[in-house]
Amino acid sequence: MGTGYVGLVSGACLADFGNVVVGVDINEQRVDLLRSGKVPIYEPGLEELVTRNRDRGRLNFSADVAFAIKSSEIVFICVGTPSQPSGEVDMSFVHSAARTIGQYMEDYKIVVNKSTVPVGTGDEVEQIIRQVRPDADFDVVSNPEFLREGSAIDDFMHPDRVVIGAGSQRAMEAVIDIYRPLYQADVPMVLTGIESAEMIKYASNALLAAKISFINEIASVCEAYGADVTAVARGMGLDERIGPRNLSAGAGYGGSCFPKDVQGLAATARRGDVEAPLIQAIDTSNVRQRRRMVDKLQAMVGDFDGKTICLLGLAFKPDTDDIREAPALEMIAALVSAGATVQAYDPAAMAHSQAEHPELVCCDDPYTAAQDADAVVLMTEWNEFRNMDLPRILDRAAAPKFLDCRNIYDPQEMAALGFEYVSIGRVSRRPGDGLEENSSWMVPGRFSPIRT
Ligand code: UGA
Repeated sequence: MGTGYVGLVSGACLADFGNVVVGVDINEQRVDLLRSGKVPIYEPGLEELVTRNRDRGRLNFSADVAFAIKSSEIVFICVGTPSQPSGEVDMSFVHSAARTIGQYMEDYKIVVNKSTVPVGTGDEVEQIIRQVRPDADFDVVSNPEFLREGSAIDDFMHPDRVVIGAGSQRAMEAVIDIYRPLYQADVPMVLTGIESAEMIKYASNALLAAKISFINEIASVCEAYGADVTAVARGMGLDERIGPRNLSAGAGYGGSCFPKDVQGLAATARRGDVEAPLIQAIDTSNVRQRRRMVDKLQAMVGDFDGKTICLLGLAFKPDTDDIREAPALEMIAALVSAGATVQAYDPAAMAHSQAEHPELVCCDDPYTAAQDADAVVLMTEWNEFRNMDLPRILDRAAAPKFLDCRNIYDPQEMAALGFEYVSIGRVSRRPGDGLEENSSWMVPGRFSPIRT
């Protein structure tokens, strides 16, 4: 139930495992689109996967919820769980899915929560189904997803673990069975109670987000004392207890998951009368980090009024067209409201961004976006920016100012090219600054793409 991001990726991958899947959605337009072979979201490899499994008859789409529920043994709830202004999770779609399941189920069903939901939702879903159909025969299972946008299929097919929380052996075995290819490939299966599975999802996302907020704060301290956060992160990450991933300092985390889930976990703690200052601080720190990007730019160009700013990258991260909670949006809002013109380029997210900010001047490539710009700001580390023709950018721009919010260039080499270069957690460089010994690009294992 639900053919959004999670539903569609999970449905297509489960079909690829040999299961027969029907994706249902109340949005008939979406169903029609999927039936005609089109995939309404940008996710590498998804369209091929959907097409292959549709052609083999294992994956179908329907707006007929009653039929889909009646004909299935296992029903996955994959609907959205957006944030409310208070940070609490809006559970209305999950509750409504549970009511619909209760309404149409006739024989034994396994109801699996794949939507990201606060601990305790398994019980709620059970109660709702029982209210609608007191004699129902069913089990509720929690099976959270750990899919990153942009690599969701690979994450599904080669996960670090599969988490299944169930209250009965029958349901547990049935859900393990649909993951048979993973189980047989020795992927760790974490079999637990429903509440623990629900907590694993929230706690994982909160810790991943915490690592990012932590390294962003370390970056600020590095800036104050002349250390290089990329070297610090590398040195920390080699400690196996810390691990190297999610330690890239940047513009702050965005997307549809980390901001919402961290706030959701903080709200869950509050509701349970639990003091959790650390969890609360993850979000506070992220909000501050995003604001710091605007302050950094202001320090470079002064008053934004009448300025032209080039933004490279709008999506909340590379390889997606998703701009939900993207740090670039905050930058655009600050610039536009202060009277700046924003010329932007993103390989995938321009249509969505312009719908949200019609004032945005969308350009066909980075060089057009840099034309006459008072500063160039890199917001998202798309690969194509790593090998950009930087002298051409410099040539087009009105001023040699470059704010790299993702640390993808080498500070000294940017300065040698003629940029006034500011990044995150590293010493800023001005044109003419020479190459120094012991510089970060000499750290073994780091490859610097620009040579002068
Ligand atoms: C995240 C989790 O990584 C998935 O495991 C989880 O299943 C998913 O949320 C979800 O709950 O559905 P996603 O939001 O797609 O996945 O993206 P990430 O790749 O984790 O990146 C999130 C944000 O953190 C991005 O804005 C990214 O730029 C930022 N980030 C990430 C950093 O700033 N630094 C890093 O080192 C890593």
